[in-house]
Amino acid sequence: MWSLCLIFVAAFTGINAVPALSSESVLQRRTTISDGNAFNQGNIGNMTWQASGVLESGCIIGGVTLSTISDCYHMFLTNNASAELDTNHLDSPRQRDEFHFPQLSAGIEFSYTWKQYLYSSTGTGTTWFHLMQVFGVVEDNPLVTLDAVSGALRIKDYVRGTGGSLCGTIDCPTTNLTNYDGTTATHTISGMFGPNGSVSYEVRNTVTGDEIISYAVNGSMGAGDGYVKFGMYRLTFDGMTTANAAVGDWATL
Ligand SMILES: *[C@@H]1O[C@H](CO)[C@@H](O)[C@H](O)[C@H]1NC(C)=O
Ligand SMILES: *[C@@H]1O[C@H](CO)[C@@H](O)[C@H](O)[C@H]1NC(C)=O
Ligand SMILES: *[C@@H]1O[C@H](CO)[C@@H](O)[C@H](O)[C@H]1NC(C)=O
Ligand SMILES: *[C@@H]1O[C@H](CO)[C@@H](O)[C@H](O)[C@H]1NC(C)=O
Ligand SMILES: *[C@@H]1O[C@H](CO)[C@@H](O)[C@H](O)[C@H]1NC(C)=O
Repeated sequence: MWSLCLIFVAAFTGINAVPALSSESVLQRRTTISDGNAFNQGNIGNMTWQASGVLESGCIIGGVTLSTISDCYHMFLTNNASAELDTNHLDSPRQRDEFHFPQLSAGIEFSYTWKQYLYSSTGTGTTWFHLMQVFGVVEDNPLVTLDAVSGALRIKDYVRGTGGSLCGTIDCPTTNLTNYDGTTATHTISGMFGPNGSVSYEVRNTVTGDEIISYAVNGSMGAGDGYVKFGMYRLTFDGMTTANAAVGDWATL
């Protein structure tokens, strides 16, 4: 991953031209992958990215790196509800900066980790704002998500619920967003797509190791193929804030 990333950064910056720096500071230097003027997608290693907003490799902002993410990508979405839109969904305007793991068939086990640092300047509204999606390809819709909504971090389940406050017979896990934003969080998820599927998901404070939110369920996880995505994906609304996040350090476990 590191060597892939170095080659990738080198392709954009011409690393030979810069003075000797530690490999870490080279990797943290911000380089534009997508500038927010078009909806683009591409691949980095085994990951697919899609960005209607700004996506950069490297996470130095104003000379400092806020997160503790080593292999780091910076995401930015504008506060203009009519700009940086995912052009596949102009009927319900939304902004998207996401990475997704490879698509898997039903019955294939997955186990992944990644990190995210959501800036505390990123506000929320009452409409959906996905930070993670377990996405059903057959359904062409999310099955389980992590959302930032109305000042809270919450799990939504669209199979056992409607994406509302109920996850089947239990209340969906939720916590104050202040427990999540402004700090680096480590996400781990394992499971399987398909009618006999499962998801076991945990978000922990990277520094303290304390659990922030978790969700585990056995049963239907869509009818067929799926994949796991993370980043920032929101329905736009008038009066929203800009959104900033750093993500990275993904791995297959
Ligand atoms: C990419 O996927 C291949 C095949 O599944 C796997 O062998 C390899 O370890 C993956 N590479 C990374 C960087 O995850
Ligand atoms: C918001 O974005 C739209 C579409 O790009 C643009 O026409 C409009 O001028 C922008 N508004 C502001 C206040 O920048
Ligand atoms: C979250 O905590 C902050 C600070 O303690 C508080 O102002 C806010 O009302 C809380 N939000 C929710 C949704 O409980
Ligand atoms: C579901 O998984 C369980 C445990 O792995 C297995 O016993 C059962 O046969 C599976 N059911 C179907 C319909 O695949
Ligand atoms: C799901 O099934 C596995 C294997 O039977 C079990 O270990 C786990 O506790 C179950 N999880 C839930 C949330 O029921």
